[in-house]
Amino acid sequence: MDIRKFSSKSFSLQKTDEERIRYLLKYAVLAPSTHNSQPWLFRIKENICEIYLNKEKKIPHADPTGRDMYISLGCCIENFIIAAKYFGVFDNLELVMKRDLIAKITINGRVSKSKNKEKLSKITKTIINRQNKRGSYSKNFIPRILLNKIYKIANDYKGVHVMININRETITEVSRLTGRSVSDSYKKPKFRQEIIRWFIGNNSLKKEGLPGYSLLLPNIISKIFPIMINKINLGPLISFMTTKKMNTSRALFIFSSKNDTKEDWVMVGRFAERAMLELQEKKLSTSIYVAAIEGSKKYRKELKKILNLDGRPQFLFVAGYMNSKIKHTPRYNVEEKIVN
Ligand SMILES: Cc1cc2nc3c(=O)[nH]c(=O)nc-3n(C[C@H](O)[C@H](O)[C@H](O)COP(=O)(O)O)c2cc1C
Repeated sequence: MDIRKFSSKSFSLQKTDEERIRYLLKYAVLAPSTHNSQPWLFRIKENICEIYLNKEKKIPHADPTGRDMYISLGCCIENFIIAAKYFGVFDNLELVMKRDLIAKITINGRVSKSKNKEKLSKITKTIINRQNKRGSYSKNFIPRILLNKIYKIANDYKGVHVMININRETITEVSRLTGRSVSDSYKKPKFRQEIIRWFIGNNSLKKEGLPGYSLLLPNIISKIFPIMINKINLGPLISFMTTKKMNTSRALFIFSSKNDTKEDWVMVGRFAERAMLELQEKKLSTSIYVAAIEGSKKYRKELKKILNLDGRPQFLFVAGYMNSKIKHTPRYNVEEKIVN
């Protein structure tokens, strides 16, 4: 079953609150997540959808603080809200943050006419096609109007600051920093073991993890990649490739906040997902690279210095135009993520 094959038209066939929430969750589960770990679980209580963190999906060596896990949950929440607004049923979001319960989203039983229906329709459709790209960008520049659009929507995400940097030298400096951090991480055997646990071959039927094709690996290499990672330190090669590809991008998008709280991270995820959707809706591609933030502390400090940031950097992606098409990464379906 292709999890991306469903039509927004059938929303009107969903009659009960529970059916509607299940339908909106089809959008939520297509969110990006660190290592494609999909660290979310859902519980439906009448017209409320509770969103839980699935602690089993923690990635302790690549994401020691859990920041990326919370950002992933923020992306998932944002998809749900965008779709709920489009279908005219969004009522309220409450961030709970008690134990594993992250948020409660209430939907409205009465379907109301959504504002900006046309715009929301495009963004909601983009949720289905959005993907994280890892190739090289073309030389085409991003129109200024699109960058300004991202600054404008910042008002919707209180406490999160976005900086967009299109300076070639800065992009190169940040790409090199990211490469250095990648190289350092691969020196650690535990980090490598963890990557192997999340890596999946090109023909795998697993519903989570990073498929070789999404890292642009041919079938044959995808089969032996875990052995290669185990036996050889591929760090220098992966670092070189990361720097090279990232450096072809046309803009850096850096999200920062004043503090390092879980609430901040969820909000960063919401804003970043919306920004990636806005850009992809306009036919741009985006690539997430968080190594300079997640690596050892010195890299995060240096990133802050290079960009002259006041706040704490939390998330980074680059953007530009890229022609390549890749298969979508897998997902668990909604039913497999609902708990009673
Ligand atoms: C918080 C977060 C951190 C991520 N970090 C990286 C990263 O450093 N490098 C990378 O190549 N992809 C990164 N990704 C992208 C995920 O691997 C990707 O979203 C996942 O494999 C699902 O694929 P999709 O986004 O194409 O649906 C990150 C995603 C999230 C949400």
